[in-house]
Amino acid sequence: MNIQSTNRPVERLEQHYIPPHGLLNMSGNLPPQVPHVFDAEYRAAMEVMMADHSPMSLIGAHQFRGVFRDRAAGSQFVHLRLPEAPDPSRVIVTNGVQSALNILITNIVGTGGVLAVEEFTYPTIRNIAALLNIKVCSVAMDEEGMLPDAFETVCRNHRPSALYAQPTMHNPTTAVMSIERRKEMAEIARKYGVAIFEDDIYSLLPTDLPPPLSTYAPGLSWYVLGTAKSMAPAFKIAYLIAPSAKAATRYFWPGDRATYWMAAPINSLMLSQLVSSGGASRIIDAVRAETAIRQAMVSERLAGASYRAQPDGLQVWLTLPDRLPKKEFAAKLADRGISISTADGYYFGDGESPNNIRFGTGTPPTRAEFERGLEAITQVYRL
Ligand SMILES: Cc1ncc(COP(=O)(O)O)c(C=O)c1O
Repeated sequence: MNIQSTNRPVERLEQHYIPPHGLLNMSGNLPPQVPHVFDAEYRAAMEVMMADHSPMSLIGAHQFRGVFRDRAAGSQFVHLRLPEAPDPSRVIVTNGVQSALNILITNIVGTGGVLAVEEFTYPTIRNIAALLNIKVCSVAMDEEGMLPDAFETVCRNHRPSALYAQPTMHNPTTAVMSIERRKEMAEIARKYGVAIFEDDIYSLLPTDLPPPLSTYAPGLSWYVLGTAKSMAPAFKIAYLIAPSAKAATRYFWPGDRATYWMAAPINSLMLSQLVSSGGASRIIDAVRAETAIRQAMVSERLAGASYRAQPDGLQVWLTLPDRLPKKEFAAKLADRGISISTADGYYFGDGESPNNIRFGTGTPPTRAEFERGLEAITQVYRL
């Protein structure tokens, strides 16, 4: 069969952003689409890839940790955040943060083990913990993230094997931990021999952030930098940096045979190409610019409300007044065709979760749709 390009309109991506219940999705936290930059960069990378490589040589064999070229690109990419580019022997090219976490939690915490997490965290941790029957111990937080004393108490009383943490642009609260506190946290992890799984996925949009926690805890840290929140959610590439080359090969090759983490070689090479052409940075710059515009709309519309957000960060963490319980707030928005998420899913502490909701600025596919959603949120908030 001869497959040719036609003039048929390309399937509108928006469809994928409208969940089955038909609401405008602001509960998700995806980067805004930037086709004016992304499409040309991606097409150019694809052309180079096809011209320079034999498809058979690309996909003719498993690539467990990624080939050297892609691990070297990963090293360059994470250097956007890590002060030193890691040796490529420590880099594992994975098909996303979730996969990397699955392997790490399975191997380092293990069935029946203990994992420490921030009091609010990425809800997927709940699913992974349930699969592996892992005990999750939450560490109390303040404005800048985990409290060192609370972490030490968890270490002393529960002996976790690892800490899953987002010290920078924390999901959902947007907290950014100070350098001083990063050093304290690293010291406690070292004292109790706790591995750190640092998820830095939201860190590529703001430009003035402190270095990752992993910088202060060499030898203990598994650092993961995904592309889902800064480039495109379905790119399906995240670079994982192991504490050593030996640790990288220990868990990732020949590796765990119950699940997989390997990125499709074409995806790996596409990102390598975008890293070396500078296209990755140009895409991130475009996502940042659109995000900043949407956050400026938030600060104008929600002036006077109690919320946390960064001027170029994806999400908004809104504290609701007592007169507006979070579930009612979510229901009223659903009546207006908008979905947002309440604090419940993110909360791992004791008792009831606080009266907060999170909404993403980037998931509505156009600025106009974002404006419609923001308008509804503003109306319900002021009712
Ligand atoms: C903190 C955090 N980590 C990771 C992810 C997903 O990353 P990936 O798509 O690479 O698995 C998300 C997505 O919501 C997230 O919020």
